[in-house]
Amino acid sequence: MASLSAQRVVNMLVNGKHCTTLWLDQSGNQLHIIDQTQLPHHLVIKTLRSLNDFCIAIKTMQVRGAPLIGATAAYGLALALQHDPSADNEQHASSALLATRPTAVNLQWAIARVRRALAGQHREQKAAIALATAEAIRGEDIQHCEAIGDHGLALLRQRYQQTNKPLNILTHCNAGWLATVDWGTALAPVYKAQQAGIPLHVWVDETRPRNQGASLTAWELAQQGVPHTVIADNTGGHLMQHGQVDLCLVGSDRTAANGDVCNKIGTYLKALAATDNNIPFYVALPSSSIDWTISDGLKSIPIEQRDADEVTHISGLAENGQITRVQLVDGNSPASNYAFDVTPARLVTGLITECGVFSANRESLLSLQQQLTETAHA
Ligand code: MRU
Repeated sequence: MASLSAQRVVNMLVNGKHCTTLWLDQSGNQLHIIDQTQLPHHLVIKTLRSLNDFCIAIKTMQVRGAPLIGATAAYGLALALQHDPSADNEQHASSALLATRPTAVNLQWAIARVRRALAGQHREQKAAIALATAEAIRGEDIQHCEAIGDHGLALLRQRYQQTNKPLNILTHCNAGWLATVDWGTALAPVYKAQQAGIPLHVWVDETRPRNQGASLTAWELAQQGVPHTVIADNTGGHLMQHGQVDLCLVGSDRTAANGDVCNKIGTYLKALAATDNNIPFYVALPSSSIDWTISDGLKSIPIEQRDADEVTHISGLAENGQITRVQLVDGNSPASNYAFDVTPARLVTGLITECGVFSANRESLLSLQQQLTETAHA
């Protein structure tokens, strides 16, 4: 665990020590990650070296969450170029990484950004340039998530002033620091509010089938000392009807240019229930999660379909201390496993980004795009 505290800019805690989800080894030729398939039961640090290590880590969800997938892929491409900086290998490594998971647009965004930096560069320079770009993506992700936290804090403070009682926030899946490098997206405002002394409590959807809420969100909230309760996925609507949810806050794997939000399967149902109960439904995301090429999220965002085994089986800690997988569904029943769904823009109260809070519509997102272009050229 000594390496965990050796990070530069870190805010979240593991056993009281500052930690991020990934960091480059001092040698500069391998990457350390927290293996999220082992949480919450075991804290395992894994080291990724080869392109295959990176592809497996993303595909099997040792790292997951849109911004973290993007950052990991950038390092994967950079380290692959250390072995072979040829154009052929750049293409091969990019294609292999892009094929790991289809929905989170941050993966494409990060690979495209590294490749833009490489364009026209000398072969000998390529690995160093790619690594510097991966490090920049990592650093910016931390800054952007913290800024999301600050903008979201203003909204939580406002809601707290309206309700004048401890805030009850409902979240789905894991959009905390484990899904990013540090801070998180949806949970960054929660951590900022905690630091600002706003009393709050988080309802954590368990998020079947992979249980990122029960396994990851609950764990990281507990590590930070944030009051929370894990609920079965079907509970949210009932709580909303009985005044026990003041605000919903989720992340996004890909947001379309019209404000449609793709996030973990089940998000749409929470947005429907929130709208029916007049509860604000906010989505927190860095601008790297916006797909400017898609103008209709429902029609065009690719939805990952994962192995049916994730639905028919479940993993947990057995009494012998080993993580054990058991079968839930009779072998004669087929299962399907859609990993994401799309929440139409009309159900989204606002998009909390690193540049501020925007309405979920074309015009508002256009103003964000202009702001980003101006900043890039400044
Ligand atoms: O399948 P996962 O665990 O990668 O899905 C993650 C989510 O759906 C998160 O809500 C999303 O990536 C938001 S990222 C902060």
